[in-house]
Amino acid sequence: MTAARIVVVGTGYVGLTTGACLAGLGHQVTCVDVDEAKVARLAAGRVDILEPGLSELVGRGLTSGRLTFVVGAREAVRDAEGVFLCVPTPMGAAGAADLRAVEAVTAEIGDVLPPRCALITKSTVPVGTSRRIRELVGRSDIPVVSNPEFLREGTAVADFLGPDRIVVGSDDEGAARWVGELYADLAAPTVVSDAASAELVKYAANCFLAMKLSYVNSIAELCERLDADIDKVTEGMGHDRRIGRSFLKPGPGWGGSCLPKDTHALLRIAESVKFDFGMLGAAIDENLAQRDRIVAKIAGAVGGRLAGARIGLLGLAFKAGTNDLRDSPALAVASVLGALGAELTAYDPAVGGEIAGMTVVDDAYQVAKGADAVVVLTEWDEFKRLDWSYMAEMMVGDTVVDTRNLLDPQLILGVGLSWQGIGRPKAYSKVVSNA
Ligand code: UGA
Repeated sequence: MTAARIVVVGTGYVGLTTGACLAGLGHQVTCVDVDEAKVARLAAGRVDILEPGLSELVGRGLTSGRLTFVVGAREAVRDAEGVFLCVPTPMGAAGAADLRAVEAVTAEIGDVLPPRCALITKSTVPVGTSRRIRELVGRSDIPVVSNPEFLREGTAVADFLGPDRIVVGSDDEGAARWVGELYADLAAPTVVSDAASAELVKYAANCFLAMKLSYVNSIAELCERLDADIDKVTEGMGHDRRIGRSFLKPGPGWGGSCLPKDTHALLRIAESVKFDFGMLGAAIDENLAQRDRIVAKIAGAVGGRLAGARIGLLGLAFKAGTNDLRDSPALAVASVLGALGAELTAYDPAVGGEIAGMTVVDDAYQVAKGADAVVVLTEWDEFKRLDWSYMAEMMVGDTVVDTRNLLDPQLILGVGLSWQGIGRPKAYSKVVSNA
């Protein structure tokens, strides 16, 4: 397709990735934000979020002149062929998505959009939002298209440029196909649908992933009770192509800015049409139960008394590769430990500064100093490469609770510590506990 004139409203990780990647695909892209200081930083090529490849892509876009950053959506959209809405849709009252940002932008630009300019939602929005936007704009010459993103934090650029699929949905099929064409160079399968189906795809996919993880965490709990090995169970499951190998790692529960918000939102959507989506509700409950089980495991590692126990935490981000703390299971576990009287010292390679209820240090070995137990909460690769004999020397206690099954248990046992993972056989923690 020939290069299109695109405006992207919102420069969060979705908007900025979308803008920079579309410019990389040859389109003429203007990114808009309300935050003047942020726009100035981006226009100077400074990217605040940790997203591999994004700074380089923004730099190339700026140099080529295909990517610009401005304040003020109203001016920016006047000659656009397509406008992507990439503004936040946080969890609002009672779990439903809060659409105020989407509605505010729509109201701001609705009357100045040029005829046939496609208004495209990329933010995750409840089913029916395209219709709502059409009503708000009130113009029959403006097609509204849902084009959900499936970007993971930490691999957003790679996900954008190598997508499993492109989904475009609109009640104006021509407009949906036009948006699909913007990605023609990516050679991904394109699903063209009505607006409501495209809006539902995103929730259906994220909630499926959340349910898959809650299922795996439940199986891991069963493994512990039956003395089986979750690594072997998931390996055996993953070879079944209908199940697939990815998203089968147990952990301290799923978190981040998307899965928790989208599971609650889909529950509310189901409720609004009087459907009791019990399976999804159970997945959310199971996720909370997983955090409780982790806390109980840590309590067990310090002899059952968390009050006054010194716990060293490795990892705070909701997953490795990001500095995002939103709905991080690590923080949720830490806050319960803190409430129960534990003294917390934490290290995360991507997170610094002050966090209430804990001392954040900038050196992993500091978390071991005087610790009764060390807990791995985020799967950063560098934790594997720590000098664990030095960690053991610094510790007062002898247990490493590895909520990500990240470390090699033999290595930990080899330095005289006890290792406790998730859903792994008791044999792995025997050395110290049997001594
Ligand atoms: C998720 C989806 O994976 C993306 O496809 C989607 O576009 C995005 O939400 C969104 O809605 O914008 P993200 O939140 O970046 O992406 O994170 P994931 O990689 O999906 O991880 C979510 C949580 O599951 C994390 O807490 C992670 O640690 C956990 N997880 C993931 C596991 O515990 N085990 C696994 O095997 C995989």
